[in-house]
Amino acid sequence: MFIKLKVLLSTVNFRGTSVMQFLIRELHAHLNGSISSVTMKKLMAQKPDLEIQNEMTVIDKGQKRTLEECFQMFHMIHQITTRPEDIFLVTKDVIKEFAADGVKYLELRSTPREEKTTGMTKRKYVEAVLQGISACKEEGLDIDVRFLLSIDRRGGPVVAKDTVKLAEEFFLSHGEMVLGLDLSGDPTVGHGKDFLESLSEARQSGLKLALHISEVPNQEEETRLLLGLPPDRIGHGSFLTSAAGDSCELVQLVRQHRIPLELCLTSNVKGQTTPSYKQHHFGYWYIIGHPVVLCTDDKGVFATDLSEEYHLAADTFNLTPEQVWNLSYESINSIFASSSIKLNLQAKWKKLKPTIFSPTVSSVSC
Ligand code: IMP
Ligand code: ZN
Repeated sequence: MFIKLKVLLSTVNFRGTSVMQFLIRELHAHLNGSISSVTMKKLMAQKPDLEIQNEMTVIDKGQKRTLEECFQMFHMIHQITTRPEDIFLVTKDVIKEFAADGVKYLELRSTPREEKTTGMTKRKYVEAVLQGISACKEEGLDIDVRFLLSIDRRGGPVVAKDTVKLAEEFFLSHGEMVLGLDLSGDPTVGHGKDFLESLSEARQSGLKLALHISEVPNQEEETRLLLGLPPDRIGHGSFLTSAAGDSCELVQLVRQHRIPLELCLTSNVKGQTTPSYKQHHFGYWYIIGHPVVLCTDDKGVFATDLSEEYHLAADTFNLTPEQVWNLSYESINSIFASSSIKLNLQAKWKKLKPTIFSPTVSSVSC
């Protein structure tokens, strides 16, 4: 049987000399941070009383915000997505937009939220996300989507425990769709030690762990504790490589365990945890050959998409098309889905490589 597979995923000018198309996957995308302006307009039309303007939920090109301001934006967005039908709608729209950008494999993450005003429970929240994923599958979108439940640091250990229980439940009932947990939220709130027990329990249940670690400076103690789990992937890790004190030991730990890093260039520059693209820690980890995965973090809030992130990395760090290809190919090793899914994706990438490196061909039969 032949399936027509569209390969024109992204056309990128690398330093103006060559053109290539490549396959991409996204492993660090927060649902509510990924809502586009188009979807936001749809939601706002249903809730005119809120009077939330576009600039309150998006950081446009050239603009920056403090991390604190970014978290205020998430708070604003949460006021717009208060019903299970909102969560269903944004899940579908976000998946479609990633698919349109050429993303073939997506691990979406979100914090289960209850809303007393609408009767949305955390369970209903997760169900709405999973229904959104299923709806996209039924529509035949060429994107494989999995889900991670997020623990918001603000909730503390009790909420974290509940989230792990919910994740375990959905892990059992929804096969390979729910794969793990994310630890996120304002990095200046709470302490990683409060989550160790829950995260460790989750790990024993077979859930994978993607943890935001060292997103802000001076968190060596927390970082050491969280790395002790160890996590399956690290979000950002922006200050692991800072010259201060013990960070060299922390880098060694990450390297010893070969823990992949999810790196989000635009998010870090716009959120000001990195001074510039050139100084982004991608350069450090890439040069030593450590596994890194380019991601968007919050494509809606940071007004970006995954092709743009690849573009930026290629331009900033002078990557050749072959290096960009390898970056994408190697990151398949870091996905949380089973080895058979990895093998399928690797086979797909290899099969498409010759076509993708030819600027004239845009589709292939397989
Ligand atoms: P949600 O989990 O789908 O509601 O997505 C928004 C949430 O993701 C925010 O409220 C934060 O808890 C988390 N988040 C998004 N971006 C970041 C980040 O850069 N660092 C830490 N947490 C983040
Ligand atoms: Zn994040």
